[in-house]
Amino acid sequence: MPASSLDQIVSLCKRRGFIFPGSEIYGGLANSWDYGPLGVELKNAIQQWWWERFVTKRQDMVGVDAAIFMNPKVWEASGHVANFNDALVDCKECKARHRADHLIEDADPDMKADGKSPQELTKIIQNMNLGCPTCGNKGTFTNARTFNLLFQTQLGALEEGDHRSIYLRGEIAQAMFVNFKNVLNTMRKRLPFGVASVGKAFRNEITPGNFTFRTLEFDLMEFEYFIEKNNWEEMFTYWQNEQQAWLKEMGFANERLRIREHTQDELSHYSKKTVDVEYQTPFGWKELFGLAYRTDFDLKNHMEQSGEDLQYTNPDTGEKFIPHVIEPTFGLSRLTLMTLLEAYNEETLEGEDTRTVMKFNSRIAPVQAAILPLSKKEPLIAKAQEIYNLLNDQTNLRLDFDMTGSIGKRYRRQDEIGTPKCITIDFGTIGEDSEQGEKNTVTVRDRDTLQQERLPIEKLRDISLA
Ligand code: GAP
Repeated sequence: MPASSLDQIVSLCKRRGFIFPGSEIYGGLANSWDYGPLGVELKNAIQQWWWERFVTKRQDMVGVDAAIFMNPKVWEASGHVANFNDALVDCKECKARHRADHLIEDADPDMKADGKSPQELTKIIQNMNLGCPTCGNKGTFTNARTFNLLFQTQLGALEEGDHRSIYLRGEIAQAMFVNFKNVLNTMRKRLPFGVASVGKAFRNEITPGNFTFRTLEFDLMEFEYFIEKNNWEEMFTYWQNEQQAWLKEMGFANERLRIREHTQDELSHYSKKTVDVEYQTPFGWKELFGLAYRTDFDLKNHMEQSGEDLQYTNPDTGEKFIPHVIEPTFGLSRLTLMTLLEAYNEETLEGEDTRTVMKFNSRIAPVQAAILPLSKKEPLIAKAQEIYNLLNDQTNLRLDFDMTGSIGKRYRRQDEIGTPKCITIDFGTIGEDSEQGEKNTVTVRDRDTLQQERLPIEKLRDISLA
């Protein structure tokens, strides 16, 4: 049973240190969020898994980590300055600003309004007689007009004089296109191969919201997979299957995932075909990942605008051509949110007791094993610390050492942050109470089955996190 309302997750994230409102002591900043101690572990673990699965362990993939600021000509050549737009409307009564396509889709979820012209959107909003979600008044919207999503800032120290406008990157993909020649010249790769990257992207979204679902800055993981044009359909299907396979490995249930193909109107300016993997959130079916066939759009434009030769030479035939591109994109911030939603469970235990438990895949649980000394007395604490140090040295597990509150409360706390294994050190462990257990043994409790087993300390390094 995943979360049934977003509030459950927002509150758990704040209470347990996953995600906090940004700049909170100054009253916050609209739609900015900070990852707390557990949130950063979760997000980093997802990212590391992704990098390992899609980059390090593949012969056909390499990575780059590029600068966020790029020469503004990159964004002209990529089409983002001209085309990376949303349409907005203002409410004449309360002055609230809304994204025109979202107003329409929220009123009629079957209607896809993304990509329609401002004139078409104005007409639809008028025909549907939509009300302003902020003040409730009907028929108060201005005509729709377009708005570029790229954030601009100034390069140069002085307000006057020598400075020029630059953009914060609106997608990370351009890093892979502008480095295509460098990678080709240094890495001896033959088609098909991919170049991957992870990092922040920035979009001046008009209506961000739903917690971290749509924010002004967010983390992306994606790669550009360079192919020969003829193979695009086969490669598209391959990467679609791979995206879904990873979601299954992470533990997402099939019934909360679906595939949706973009209509011609919706397609980004660079794409010939796009499909989204959507997840059923408490606020409706929403895009989780995207997969696009970008053709040779980007490399061709960069070749024209930069004057550099961005062709690939077939080593067998000597034929030169511009590769085509399949782009699987994985929103890391959004995946982190959906992982939290999917992991959430409320369970009734024997005796009508209830618990909230985050059933994260063990690989990404922010804490993988908690060391819980039953009492604060010595030498029990020293023994617990010795076991913590031992596991720290001999395993790569993310560990917690928790001695605050009753053991029952500590189990509940570890359940709520999704810790797969709790290791309790008691008076049996230090040889003072044989009824609790034999000397140098500990109790290991499993988060999901709640089963407890007594294990010798030297076996702990082999505990299975499956
Ligand atoms: N290079 C292609 C690209 O950036 P996109 O569909 O615009 O494609 C990729 O974005 C992914 O980034 C989406 O599938 C989604 O997971 C995530 N994403 C997009 N806008 C976002 C936002 N404002 N806040 C959080 N995540 C966002």
